[in-house]
Amino acid sequence: MLIFSLVVALLALDSAALGASISGQRHRVRTVATFPADIDPENLVVRHSGQILMTASNQNKLYQIDPWGRTKPIVLHTFDGHMSVTGIDEVEKDVFVATVGNFSFATFTSTPQSFGLWKIDLRGTKPCVGKLFAIPELDVPNGLVYVGDNDILIADSHVGGIFRVNVHSGHPKLVDSNDPLMKSLPPDPSNPDLVGFGINGIHLNPLNKHEIIFSSTDQNVIGKVGINQHFVPIGNATKVADAVNDDLIPAPNGDIHVASNNAITTIYPGGSKSVFNFTTDAVRLTALKYGRTDPYKHSLFGTVIVFGETGTNTGKLIVVDNY
Ligand SMILES: *[C@@H]1O[C@H](CO)[C@@H](O)[C@H](O)[C@H]1NC(C)=O
Ligand SMILES: *[C@@H]1O[C@H](CO)[C@@H](O)[C@H](O)[C@H]1NC(C)=O
Ligand SMILES: *[C@@H]1O[C@H](CO)[C@@H](O)[C@H](O)[C@H]1NC(C)=O
Repeated sequence: MLIFSLVVALLALDSAALGASISGQRHRVRTVATFPADIDPENLVVRHSGQILMTASNQNKLYQIDPWGRTKPIVLHTFDGHMSVTGIDEVEKDVFVATVGNFSFATFTSTPQSFGLWKIDLRGTKPCVGKLFAIPELDVPNGLVYVGDNDILIADSHVGGIFRVNVHSGHPKLVDSNDPLMKSLPPDPSNPDLVGFGINGIHLNPLNKHEIIFSSTDQNVIGKVGINQHFVPIGNATKVADAVNDDLIPAPNGDIHVASNNAITTIYPGGSKSVFNFTTDAVRLTALKYGRTDPYKHSLFGTVIVFGETGTNTGKLIVVDNY
């Protein structure tokens, strides 16, 4: 397939905002790449090489971005016949899976039974991309995380639950659907922030592989729940902290960094929080991931929707140091 260069402005790595972290180190914020309308960046994953793969909930494209700005972002693959790419994670070195289907950011709903799981194999000289299987049970697949033994967990924001899917055999299984903390809230005309989204982001707790942490968007809550050896949640989830949220990422030391619109909210063990507002612009930070190569190992890359006045959004990928 063709890999073509996008006509996008690649900004110089200029300082855009500064703030102090709890340890006193400064959170320098830079724009790595900008994307023209119409785009709603949704999620990202960092490759071993340091390159970043980015998805958008209103585009059928997988982008690759060079964090050093040596090359312009490229479209690695176009998923013909689809509108959206949402969660993505690496299942083995340079092999990724992503949920691909038809989601509408305008209505926050999907075409029923439109989502499936795709494999993106980047081990060769050209990307090798193919559909693994349809997952008609999915409604609005959002966070996706590889947990081991060829299993991934997919957080579905409309189902308000977690699917476990084996990337070899398929067999999607709804392993948690009754937890009150994972549910959306009923529509409320006086609260325009409610989008009908329950659980959004999902990750293993790096300090306890038998626990997952998650964000739940309508409820503005970060939660956790124990899982057994089959990655099935045990018992009810409990609240870790309140936070405006989209996706989230745990730090190796157990801090939890939450994408909070124009801010990164950090939750420390014990539940105290700090909020770093990285811009005053009308934006939605949708996901965060740590860099994997120098000088980005303590930096968070973030996918950002920049709301346009006419209703069409532009996007950017940012990097924030000292996390
Ligand atoms: C998803 O959207 C594409 C592009 O609009 C369309 O061709 C396709 O039929 C849709 N798929 C489903 C399952 O509705
Ligand atoms: C879990 O939550 C449900 C729904 O709120 C409740 O009925 C049930 O008693 C809870 N279970 C435990 C063990 O707390
Ligand atoms: C900072 O971010 C928080 C979390 O999203 C938000 O509630 C608050 O209004 C923001 N403050 C400013 C000055 O933008």
